[in-house]
Amino acid sequence: MTQAIFMPAPAAGAQPLSSLPPRVPGTALFGQGSSEPYARALGRKQGSLTLRPVSADYGLAPVTFTVDSWCAPATILERSLVAGLSGPLLDIGCGPGRLLAAAASFGITAMGLDTSTQAVQQALDRGTRAVRQSVFETVSHTGRWRSAVLLDGNIGIDGSVSALLRRSRELLSPDGTLLVEVDPDDDVDAAFQAVLEDDDGKVSEPFRWARAGRTALAARAGASGWELSATRRAQGRVFCWLNPARANRPARRSSR
Ligand SMILES: C[S@@+](CC[C@H](N)C(=O)[O-])C[C@H]1O[C@@H](n2cnc3c(N)ncnc32)[C@H](O)[C@@H]1O
Repeated sequence: MTQAIFMPAPAAGAQPLSSLPPRVPGTALFGQGSSEPYARALGRKQGSLTLRPVSADYGLAPVTFTVDSWCAPATILERSLVAGLSGPLLDIGCGPGRLLAAAASFGITAMGLDTSTQAVQQALDRGTRAVRQSVFETVSHTGRWRSAVLLDGNIGIDGSVSALLRRSRELLSPDGTLLVEVDPDDDVDAAFQAVLEDDDGKVSEPFRWARAGRTALAARAGASGWELSATRRAQGRVFCWLNPARANRPARRSSR
């Protein structure tokens, strides 16, 4: 498949931004519900958001995200990561689309998925392609994406690292690459109910989330059809490249 002929379009299951049904109670999504801190922060395009477990029993420190950086252009580090990937590229949990914009600047065909209306709208406003839908719903070109990214803690989406890795495996082509940003603490491996809180103390409904360091990712990857190919530590962040396990890769034709 060449990038030139690839035209990702919303899957049949994806819905226009304005016509989605109301959320079912108990199925809150990242930062949504209650005081809608994620939508508010994206509206302001600045401030910080704190993700914390609903219970201290998990023994996990809160994680703070800087909304300014999500709404700003990708950093030099992030651009270098994107530049090393092949298109078509899928940004899972794309937020306002800074990585999609970076991909476009390198001529890499890319599409984002996100469950937040505000995030998708801002990604569209940047001139990038994004669809409001969950990664677990029907995704166009399933099995044909050459690369996918799960950055900014997105390996935590929906609270099961293994389920997300299996889903990513379905989405990517047999020679695909999945780039995952993991927790800076290699030993973290947790799934929990979390809330998101903004600078004004506005809190979301609880939603399922997870955190995984390199050790947990490597173990879960192996059980989900992936193998860890490389790790890079830079600027306090840790990135892991996953490729389909050898047994799952297409056989190379012998030249003899
Ligand atoms: C930690 S934020 C990362 C933001 C983003 N990477 C950026 O560049 O701004 C997690 C993102 O994943 C999205 N998300 C959460 N659950 C999702 C799901 N099931 N499918 C797709 N996106 C999801 C959220 O709406 C949010 O934009």
